[in-house]
Amino acid sequence: MKFFAFLFFLFIALSNFSQNHSLPALKYAYNAYEPWIDAQTMEIHHAKHHQAYITNLNKAIVGTKMEKLSIIDLLMYASFRSDAVRNNAGGHFNHSLFWDILAPQTSQTPISSDLAAAIDSEFKSMDTLRVKINQGATTRFGSGWVWLSVTPDKKLMVSSTANQDNPIMDVSKDRGIPILCIDVWEHAYYLKYQNKRGDYLGAIWNLIDWGIVSQKYNAALNDSLLVELEKDNWMELKDFHKVMAQTFHPAEKDNLEPLRKRSAELMAKSSLLLASKAPKSLDKPAVKVALVQLEKQCIEINKLNSKNASDLVLKKKITAAHDTFHKVQELCHD
Ligand SMILES: [Fe+2]
Repeated sequence: MKFFAFLFFLFIALSNFSQNHSLPALKYAYNAYEPWIDAQTMEIHHAKHHQAYITNLNKAIVGTKMEKLSIIDLLMYASFRSDAVRNNAGGHFNHSLFWDILAPQTSQTPISSDLAAAIDSEFKSMDTLRVKINQGATTRFGSGWVWLSVTPDKKLMVSSTANQDNPIMDVSKDRGIPILCIDVWEHAYYLKYQNKRGDYLGAIWNLIDWGIVSQKYNAALNDSLLVELEKDNWMELKDFHKVMAQTFHPAEKDNLEPLRKRSAELMAKSSLLLASKAPKSLDKPAVKVALVQLEKQCIEINKLNSKNASDLVLKKKITAAHDTFHKVQELCHD
């Protein structure tokens, strides 16, 4: 008996210690980034702030299906996640990338000719890129990040996000795979620079390892995530999906109230979806045909609802519309 009790407690102990995500070690000592970033800031930022995002992320996903998801999957569908997962998965990913691209000047590696050419072609020069990134960082109100990313059409893009969001997330307007980022939360610079964000931005450029950014550029160009980001970048489809899910799933359980309240909204979203511009890879006749059918079905549902059709009729119609929507989704993932 004692043996089984021991096994039980061992199991509980191991469960508590099994942590999905863990703090990546810095490549250099905390004081190696001086004089641009002081050792105390680096230590607090890495060992306290970044660690807190990881601890809270692990807490938020423990015992859920999300434990088995990669950090990219957690980020991709951020709009479907809780604030705790969105903020802490973002915090973990963003800081990991930030540490990776920073190096003391004596350890930095040179930019590749491919990335240098892409910067010249997109921004005219490295100086113009720097100005653009600093503008993004300066005008970011409150806390957030500024990014250099590779877009689904394989171009370079500068963008900024609030809080711990990033360009991989479906809540971001400008999506891509980030290859460089600058943390503009006050915790990144306050001890040395106080409220002078501009001075910190001037200093941080001395720590960018362009050789590492170049490696990330090459990896991003060949990453299948770019294809997924392109397909996923259809806001009208997501908007429709939300209303469909919130009306169809209760109807499945014979609760027609949400559909009765929102049939006009469902119809409006189906029309917006049909009129919207699909991502390039999804702009195909079969998708269009299915969307025309979907709109027709949603218009009929709204009409029947306004005439007080029975629950049975409405349930049958929303189930058929849901089947059509599934067909759209399948076509999108072909
Ligand atoms: Fe930070």
